[in-house]
Amino acid sequence: MALTRLLAPGRATLARGAVGVRAAAQLRFSSTYDNLLVTRPAAGVQLVTLNRPKALNALSTPLIADLHAALRAADADADVGVVVLTGSEKAFAAGADIKEMKDKTFADVATENFIAGWSAAMQIRKPVIAAVNGYALGGGCELAMMADIVYAGDKAVFGQPEIKLGIIPGAGGTQRLTRAIGRARAMELILTGANFSAEEAAAWGLVARVFPAAELVDEAVKTAARIAGMGRLAVLAAKQSINYGLEVGQAEGLVFERKTFHSLFATADQKEGMAAFAEKRKPRFTHA
Ligand code: CAA
Repeated sequence: MALTRLLAPGRATLARGAVGVRAAAQLRFSSTYDNLLVTRPAAGVQLVTLNRPKALNALSTPLIADLHAALRAADADADVGVVVLTGSEKAFAAGADIKEMKDKTFADVATENFIAGWSAAMQIRKPVIAAVNGYALGGGCELAMMADIVYAGDKAVFGQPEIKLGIIPGAGGTQRLTRAIGRARAMELILTGANFSAEEAAAWGLVARVFPAAELVDEAVKTAARIAGMGRLAVLAAKQSINYGLEVGQAEGLVFERKTFHSLFATADQKEGMAAFAEKRKPRFTHA
């Protein structure tokens, strides 16, 4: 399981194939997990790479436990503003681990509340950007949809193929896909188990941007670094306000937003942000 350590400059590890902005960044942090690579490619950005290549990052129980630990650690780390979650160029994640699931009975899955912990693993206060290359199928698609922003490589393949296994999506597919792309398309995709492309995912609003596969992670890290440079209290508040609004009616969401907006006037970052504007200089946010 998770053993986190701080490394001296020069000893930090990079995910295989890491280039560009990641390689150029001053890395001083690394963590060790059985099923993840965790690095700090830019100030304020934690890059979490699913790393179970032989099973195309199938989301086994140990992998989800590692993810839970890594995201909790990122959320608690004052040096982290944003998490980027990615996989390999072949697979973001090919779904729940079918070999782990295949002999489970109803009593088994109901008793252990199988996969209930997945959403909990992804529930952190800081923004998570999913950078999806390759297959994002079943639970892989669901994991991406739990992120706050989804970027895709141009060859990414999304899908909820559970129906072909005699089951349905169990980690939010019927809910989040429907909210993201609408009932008509979600119904067709989930009932047929058909895959869809990065281009379709972007056109339908599931994916914010599509990049050439080789540039995807660097682009996600760039966006993450930009967000990490904002006042963190405002970033957390914006994420919370958007997500809360999706769970409640608009009137309640608007009240929540306004109260949250008012509360930010108690922060040093609001004073600094507005003073910097008036003085025509860049703000120096202190996250206070
Ligand atoms: N679980 C366990 N192992 C998996 C896996 C999965 N979801 N997906 C791939 N693997 C394993 C394969 O068994 C194979 O292992 P071996 O070498 O030991 O045989 C290895 O990963 C490589 O896979 P393939 O040889 O199949 O690679 P491919 O390039 O020919 O095909 C693929 C890639 C189209 C993604 C194919 O692997 C596939 O269809 N995978 C399953 C996708 C799927 O059905 N996902 C939904 C799972 S159910 C779910 O997620 C429920 C939920 O809602 C939470």
